[in-house]
Amino acid sequence: MSDRLRFDGQVAIVTGAGRGLGRAYANELADRGCAVVVNDPAVDEAGTGLADVVVECIVGRGGRAVANRDSVATQEGGRAIVATAMEAFSSVDIVINNAGVMRHAMFDDLTLEQLDAVLDTHLKGAFFVTQAAWPHMRGNGYGRIVLTSSASGAFGKESHASYAAAKAGLIGFGKVLGLEGAHHGIKANSVLPMAVTTPRAGDGVPTGGDNVRTFDAWQKLQDRSEPERVAALVLYLASCECAVTGDAFSSLGGRYSRVFVGVTAGWVSPGSDIAAPEDVRDNLDAILDEDGYVVPDSLAHEIELAVAAVAGAPDRG
Ligand SMILES: NC(=O)c1ccc[n+]([C@@H]2O[C@H](COP(=O)([O-])OP(=O)(O)OC[C@H]3O[C@@H](n4cnc5c(N)ncnc54)[C@H](O)[C@@H]3O)[C@@H](O)[C@H]2O)c1
Repeated sequence: MSDRLRFDGQVAIVTGAGRGLGRAYANELADRGCAVVVNDPAVDEAGTGLADVVVECIVGRGGRAVANRDSVATQEGGRAIVATAMEAFSSVDIVINNAGVMRHAMFDDLTLEQLDAVLDTHLKGAFFVTQAAWPHMRGNGYGRIVLTSSASGAFGKESHASYAAAKAGLIGFGKVLGLEGAHHGIKANSVLPMAVTTPRAGDGVPTGGDNVRTFDAWQKLQDRSEPERVAALVLYLASCECAVTGDAFSSLGGRYSRVFVGVTAGWVSPGSDIAAPEDVRDNLDAILDEDGYVVPDSLAHEIELAVAAVAGAPDRG
């Protein structure tokens, strides 16, 4: 292994870091010299903040950390979390948006309360914390943002309608942050983690086709799914050596992969003809054909691809 990645002199916010993946990120960052805001509103049975326990352990090892109990799910909460970083450490270089809740429900049964809880925490929460940190990063000409997506959002899973919508939204959010951040030395990427963390109601209860398949496959990776394996990816993306932005990466059972949205070469309606539904039906194989697909780096690139496809298409007749 080459030089160890260090974070000396840097300040990170990790949301939802009282347990699970966030705690692993906070511990690893602190052990590599980073000052960490450990955010989590949750308390144990005795009323002790989960974040306070994590901070106590980090400080006990000689690290620098401060606890924050605000919720990411409001704009005030996002601002208060960033204010904690500024008050304690006078900077914010890294935001790891990790806080999350789960509400399992088949789509027919999904309630507005469940939908709001999931969108507010995962999607709006990442907006609130990141938007409060953004001016400080711009001012420093440097920043690293990690968004926590999910394989459910990228690929789908039964009973995850609200969760998948929020998690897929974060991938698009990360692409825009990557583009806008490029002007200011800020890099933003999404992670799709899988790890054994906190059991939740509905987890591990296969109720039908897709869920049984997911459960069966996931059982085979249980002994390779420690949060620390995901932390390796997240810390790289949070480091000054991070060489990517606007991208998404999966960490699953020790396999690290890029996850992307691509576009097929497709079919172009000839000449100036306006295609009919029957044309789409008759050319579906070409539209679906993945040979020669491209991963556009922006909307501009996607439009340029269409311009080239139209220019290269044969005229009618
Ligand atoms: N564990 C997995 O396999 C997995 C898979 C895909 C995605 N994820 C995502 O990774 C992240 C961490 O997952 P985990 O398994 O460690 O979960 P976890 O439940 O162990 O930890 C999540 C933490 O977020 C905190 N939290 C909840 N609402 C919050 C709020 N409003 N403000 C601040 N903190 C809040 C909780 O108190 C909790 O401590 C989540 O975003 C989750 O959706 C996890």
